[in-house]
Amino acid sequence: MKGGNLSERDKKHLWHPLTQHKTALAPIGIVKAEGALLWDEEGKSYIDGIASWYTAMYGHGHKDITRAISEQVQLLDFVMFSGFTHEPAVRLSEELMAILPKNQAKLFFNDNGSTAIEAAIKMALQYHFNQNDKRDTLIAFEDGFHGDTFGAMSASGLSSYNDPFEDFLLKVERIPVPQKDNLDMVQSQLESIVSSHKCAAFVFEPLVQGAAGMKFHSAEGLDKLIKICQKYGILCIADEVMTGFGKTGKIFASENLQNQPDILCLSKALTAGIFPLSITSCTQKIFDAFLSEDISKGFFHAHTYSAHPLGCAAALAGLKLLNSP
Ligand SMILES: Cc1ncc(COP(=O)(O)O)c(C=O)c1O
Repeated sequence: MKGGNLSERDKKHLWHPLTQHKTALAPIGIVKAEGALLWDEEGKSYIDGIASWYTAMYGHGHKDITRAISEQVQLLDFVMFSGFTHEPAVRLSEELMAILPKNQAKLFFNDNGSTAIEAAIKMALQYHFNQNDKRDTLIAFEDGFHGDTFGAMSASGLSSYNDPFEDFLLKVERIPVPQKDNLDMVQSQLESIVSSHKCAAFVFEPLVQGAAGMKFHSAEGLDKLIKICQKYGILCIADEVMTGFGKTGKIFASENLQNQPDILCLSKALTAGIFPLSITSCTQKIFDAFLSEDISKGFFHAHTYSAHPLGCAAALAGLKLLNSP
């Protein structure tokens, strides 16, 4: 055992996310987690009030989930997902299809929330491209947050964190979130954008903008915006990375809408905070636009750990808990 506590040893080699290391307090060294609690090296306990970025929805170390992972790792630890498939991914697809909005037909696996969004944006751009309809603009809400890869960062509301990258981001038109008192204005702003730009997709956090401070907007208003976009063939991407799996009282926030999104992005509570995994789901119509004798019309996007069997096993165990009374 090296000298010093975790915080001191951490300082030597580690670079933490979302941290200005010149001014930040030393990170708290955590050695154990159970239920809603975390423990540091001195045995002091902390309530994990933010459920480790909204992931640990059944509590840390839930026995059903850790057992499922441990059984899975002994059977099949990992296999690449291009040219191969496996039982946990197939079963998860069957179980998710039973609860996702009815228009969803295909699941594409990734490994975190940002990459789920990135795949959704690329899917939307290539969907139009494959049909000889090149579109170059995204629509997104002001103050949204979709992650830290370039596509996801582009769709996110402007923040000083993104300043160094601003010149390299995708083309995005922004609208305010719909509330009861601004709906007419937001609708006419959207109408003007869709008629003057070649819009490929509308990316939004349905009903609640998490990183903006749990800022709610009107389901009725969002429904109207989705309807306008779909009239123009613009694919609607619901970022359910934070809202998915019960956060709004329904399994998915999109269930509160009449007009269903074309694409949904899931992560975080998908695996109950125990394993990184994400899913970009889409309609059959989107999937079909990638079918061709021409190999380059396929979706050439992959992450090594896509559909990791351990993540799928954790997700299946989580779904069982979600569905139990
Ligand atoms: C709504 C939403 N989308 C995407 C992301 C990005 O997910 P990840 O941090 O797993 O890349 C987050 C992260 O907080 C999020 O809240």
